[in-house]
Amino acid sequence: MSGFGFPEIRPRRLRQSPAVRELVRETSLEPRHLVLPMFVREGITAATPISSMPGVSQHTLDSLRRAAVEAAEAGVSGVMLFGVPEVRDAVGTGADDPDGILNVATAALVAEVGDALVVQTDLCLDEFTDHGHCGVLSAEGAVDNDATLERYVSMAIAQAQAGSQLLGLSGMMDGQVSAIRRGLDAEGFTDTLILGYAAKYASAFYGPFREAVDSQLQGDRRTYQLDPGNRREGLREALIDEAEGADVVMVKPAMGFLDVLREVRDRVHIPVWAYQISGEYAMIEAAAANDWIDRRAAVLESLLSIRRAGADTVLTYWATEAARWLNER
Ligand code: PBG
Repeated sequence: MSGFGFPEIRPRRLRQSPAVRELVRETSLEPRHLVLPMFVREGITAATPISSMPGVSQHTLDSLRRAAVEAAEAGVSGVMLFGVPEVRDAVGTGADDPDGILNVATAALVAEVGDALVVQTDLCLDEFTDHGHCGVLSAEGAVDNDATLERYVSMAIAQAQAGSQLLGLSGMMDGQVSAIRRGLDAEGFTDTLILGYAAKYASAFYGPFREAVDSQLQGDRRTYQLDPGNRREGLREALIDEAEGADVVMVKPAMGFLDVLREVRDRVHIPVWAYQISGEYAMIEAAAANDWIDRRAAVLESLLSIRRAGADTVLTYWATEAARWLNER
């Protein structure tokens, strides 16, 4: 301080104009940092809006193709596909059936946009089982880890055969990365990428997704997804997935778990992605619909914050729209 009480150190100098702020911004957000999750539903003739996710639909094969082309044109770097089958059973037969909706849609997207972006598939049984769990059940009704791994390997091979370039392992079974890596390699799919949903928490904010995939789940997933109170355990899962050979690890949800995201980014040496989930999307859309927040500013700030916390890439239902905004600048 000078004798007149004026500050000698003025951090505000770095914030004086848009140009100076642009010059010193630490975190970037570009279309290539975004991946669009998409839903394709078997047996519908027109895209069906998801009421709890305004602006997001369950697609037909045709509307899916068009939306994927729009994503590619906006510069989004990937699409992550979820399938909603017409028929479900105890072991999720539709998941590894080459004629199942997810595998058919994957092949269609690879043909349409496979050169422009990375076509990715959710690898989990919950959309395909009649009980809605991410794995198969034992006689006692518990989720059977090792029996589920066999189903996952079969699903992985079916997805790779359909052309999926990156498999999103979202089921939270122990050993899923190594089992699927070995299964893929044995079939010659050594180039198929594995994304381990390493730190996936049992979150209340998945609510709208359950509508999106017409989930049959009763109860919860707390015997396999992480307890939201546990930071160290999330880091441990990420380190295990990296050691098992995952190409990328995920933290999910994003905004409630930015501390986990930062720690994982600091500790692994592979790309770290974050999933801005359905409930995060729904909250911002609902507040914006009430004019309580500025929609575009809130969406971009949420994505920038997830990047700042350490995400190399963000899965977000706003991917195409946000990429267009970023292209305007
Ligand atoms: C399970 C899965 C879920 C989501 C993605 N994969 C739901 C769950 O674990 O209950 C949620 C995604 C979202 O909420 O946007 N395969």
